[in-house]
Amino acid sequence: MRFFCSLTFAGLAVTSVMAQVPFFGAPQNLTQVVPGENVLISVFQGDTNSQFEDVGIALGISQCFNNACPGTETGLGDVFYNGPFVPTFVGTNRYQNYTVTIPSFLEAGDLAQVTASLFVLTGAAAFPTLETIYIALEVV
Ligand SMILES: *[C@@H]1O[C@H](CO)[C@@H](O)[C@H](O)[C@H]1NC(C)=O
Ligand SMILES: *[C@@H]1O[C@H](CO)[C@@H](O)[C@H](O)[C@H]1NC(C)=O
Repeated sequence: MRFFCSLTFAGLAVTSVMAQVPFFGAPQNLTQVVPGENVLISVFQGDTNSQFEDVGIALGISQCFNNACPGTETGLGDVFYNGPFVPTFVGTNRYQNYTVTIPSFLEAGDLAQVTASLFVLTGAAAFPTLETIYIALEVV
């Protein structure tokens, strides 16, 4: 009986997560960047109908070798930012801007991956949820 209850609860938690999944408003996938350059990263949070509370976010960048980006198979790499996620409403959008510096160790002529990992508490029971998204940048 206890097992059955746990399963039902997990199902509810997943539904809540789907309702407010984050995404990058900027930069666009495959934007060209130069090491040392400052780049604006906008992290949007979708529909806010479900009950949730933002805890924090980490943003990082890693080298993709031979244009093969690791996705969520690896860590964030060089961490640009690790701290609060406090999005602002702008019209119907809800997002936060972070300005980061593209690190100099990235090799020109290859891709780099920007990863954002957002920690959210979802539902009335504050189910801990980590949502990781990523995008590729072209280092030139
Ligand atoms: C970004 O572009 C790469 C290379 O074309 C592609 O593999 C990847 O799926 C794209 N990612 C997104 C989020 O569109
Ligand atoms: C994010 O940055 C863009 C470009 O500078 C700006 O237009 C926008 O108002 C900023 N939004 C927030 C929520 O800070």
